[in-house]
Amino acid sequence: MKVIPSIQELRDQMWGQNRVAFVPTMGNLHEGHLSLIRLARQYGDPVVTSIFVNRLQFGPTEDFHKYPRTLNKDIEKLQKENVYVLFAPKEKELYPEPQEYRITPPKDLGGILEGEFRPNFFDGVCTIVMKLFSCVQPRVAVFGKKDYQQLMILRAMVHQFALPIDIVAAETVRANDGLALSSRNHFLSETERAEAPRLYEHLQKIRVAILNGNSDFIGLELNAKAELIAHGWKPDYITIRLRNNLHPPANTKTTWAGGLVVLAAAKLGNVRLIDNLEI
Ligand code: PAF
Repeated sequence: MKVIPSIQELRDQMWGQNRVAFVPTMGNLHEGHLSLIRLARQYGDPVVTSIFVNRLQFGPTEDFHKYPRTLNKDIEKLQKENVYVLFAPKEKELYPEPQEYRITPPKDLGGILEGEFRPNFFDGVCTIVMKLFSCVQPRVAVFGKKDYQQLMILRAMVHQFALPIDIVAAETVRANDGLALSSRNHFLSETERAEAPRLYEHLQKIRVAILNGNSDFIGLELNAKAELIAHGWKPDYITIRLRNNLHPPANTKTTWAGGLVVLAAAKLGNVRLIDNLEI
């Protein structure tokens, strides 16, 4: 595997490759990331990964400086997965000057849920992903369903800009107790880690209730929120939405034809966890 820090070197290395499968990451790789890489291999060749902790997608009070940076360990893991190139630029390489041109997703998709609680997050994500796409020029890019809204927004971005890239969605990888794998799980204390699976348990309860005919969505959401609060969580949202646009469903079954998804974001101590489950 070649570890490449510069855009020019990357372009030279990738010259003539037209089936590249790309997995962008912020590093601190775990089984979830590795599953994206394994999926990428089924859609293209060679597989290219990037590691870049993107300042633009962190708010001023968020954990940009604390975000785990484990490049050497990450490289070992990627070598075992036979990744062809790791693009690992320094900040000055991707942002040599202030990034004044930005990609802003539409408010009705980018301004809700995560966008409501992390106001510049999706601008930062879209801007860096567009820039990474421009550097790597992939044919296919893989993103995890764990970041459900991010996946939808990036898919819509690729569509609107007519980028010649297929977006592939990968299922969330979970620990044995159900907790979705995330780099932020490392920040949980032992007691918080034991408590953390409760978030997914509530998503599952809501799913089962709806499949069993319960259509009191507000009641289900409020109940889950109250339970989480009772166990020390600070939920931002736990909400049932339409899969195709993430808007709240009207209370008639015909409008749910495209399927539902329940999404949650909640803080446990200082750690903000997100998760979701399709219904
Ligand atoms: O999901 C992530 O890890 C990041 O948001 C991404 C897509 C790599 C952009 O920085």
